[in-house]
Amino acid sequence: MADGNTAFRAENGHLIERATNTLIRGGHNAVVPDGVSAIGEAAFRRTSGIAELYIPTSVVSIGNYFIADSSVTVILYAGSEEAWGAIEKTDMWNFGNREVRMEYSAGLPTQTHEVLVVYFSNTGNTQEVAEYIAAAAGGVLWQIVPQVAYTEEDLDYTDSNCRARQEQNDENARPAIEGSVARFVEYAAVFIGHPIWWGGAPRIIQTFIESYDFSNKQVYTFSTSASSSGSGAIFCGN
Ligand SMILES: Cc1cc2nc3c(=O)[nH]c(=O)nc-3n(C[C@H](O)[C@H](O)[C@H](O)COP(=O)(O)O)c2cc1C
Repeated sequence: MADGNTAFRAENGHLIERATNTLIRGGHNAVVPDGVSAIGEAAFRRTSGIAELYIPTSVVSIGNYFIADSSVTVILYAGSEEAWGAIEKTDMWNFGNREVRMEYSAGLPTQTHEVLVVYFSNTGNTQEVAEYIAAAAGGVLWQIVPQVAYTEEDLDYTDSNCRARQEQNDENARPAIEGSVARFVEYAAVFIGHPIWWGGAPRIIQTFIESYDFSNKQVYTFSTSASSSGSGAIFCGN
């Protein structure tokens, strides 16, 4: 977006029409800037990378399908429940979204200096390292729990057709994750830990990475394995 553009401006990666202060197209950023008065039709439709969306009290109208088929599962509204009810919403504003949890009077996020330690672990090894890092860094732990748990057979790497193998072979596999990290946007640093599966990171790690907005964060990864080297594992083979 050119600085001198008179019709639109970009803020937090969102495209905003100047004349009406309408957010026309959302970027992969969790915060609708304060001052925006309308969120336009389909503004966040199919947007990935945001689990929680912050909406300021300056918003007075919301258009159809505004978060349809997106990754948003929580709306953090800065005002009261009454104020949310007073926002003018078109008939289909709610159409096509996931089950969304509302949090009122949420306040706008301020980045704290806190550290988040996220880990995926089935047999406890990665969890042990995650706990060590969280203790050393004074961080908050969050476990990636798959919506469908992995059974022992799913993880049997001697079976070339086991679930884990099938997922690793499918570059579009994105196993679903239970719940989401609360107020993710406020963490300054995120550690992500996982076991090594066939030299790389399990697909569920991609699910996680694609579900959040990592702007302005320091990101570190760690992994455990039986013997493979872990360096760069998060990107290896994926
Ligand atoms: C499906 C599967 C694939 C694996 N592939 C590798 C591998 O390629 N190299 C390796 O050294 N270890 C491999 N392992 C071993 C795990 O990386 C190791 O046991 C890890 O510490 C498990 O972490 P967790 O206890 O946190 O689940 C594999 C384990 C499983 C279940």
